[in-house]
Amino acid sequence: MAPVPRRRGEVEASEIGPFPLFAIDDPRHDDGTIMGYVLGKAEGREPSTDKRKRREEPTLHGHVTAVTVAPEYRRLGVAQMLMDFFELISEHVYHGFFVDLFVRPSNEKAIGMYEKRGYSVYRRVHGYYQSGSFRSAEDGFAKLSLSP
Ligand SMILES: CC(C)(COP(=O)(O)OP(=O)(O)OC[C@H]1O[C@@H](n2cnc3c(N)ncnc32)[C@H](O)[C@@H]1OP(=O)(O)O)[C@@H](O)C(=O)NCCC(=O)NCCS
Repeated sequence: MAPVPRRRGEVEASEIGPFPLFAIDDPRHDDGTIMGYVLGKAEGREPSTDKRKRREEPTLHGHVTAVTVAPEYRRLGVAQMLMDFFELISEHVYHGFFVDLFVRPSNEKAIGMYEKRGYSVYRRVHGYYQSGSFRSAEDGFAKLSLSP
């Protein structure tokens, strides 16, 4: 992955839209080599103060747009660390009630990771991942994790 300026061995947050991008760099290098990143946003609405709408469920939540770990740093717990930070910021900074994301049903590694973290399939969206030249259209699993 292309290097970006940051301090060595630390998780850095930089504002991109409404949610920070978290990237972890390799502490053995001083050129900003990134081991992995998670990118997302805060979505939904806060609990209503309007008495008539009190029964509406609050939908404020963190949405993971992408989590990726460079191939040479995989299976070291980097993605788990990134998700730990994302969930923490979603709950404590943005007061999200849950975190959700989409994942390809064929992405068994990622699904294994999310299930271990307590995520479960909330709905299946037909044709979420559009077909490309070499890949047929694939449904997307929306996964949901309730905050404690
Ligand atoms: C999925 C991905 C983010 C995992 O990153 P990672 O840093 O290697 O993951 P971790 O080391 O934190 O492992 C977390 C869990 O993921 C699962 N996992 C990760 N790699 C796996 C593999 N090669 N085989 C089986 N399970 C795997 C395991 O459940 C693992 O837990 P365990 O080590 O206790 O068994 C990484 O493979 C990746 O970047 N893939 C391409 C992008 C992608 O698919 N992103 C997710 C899109 S929703």
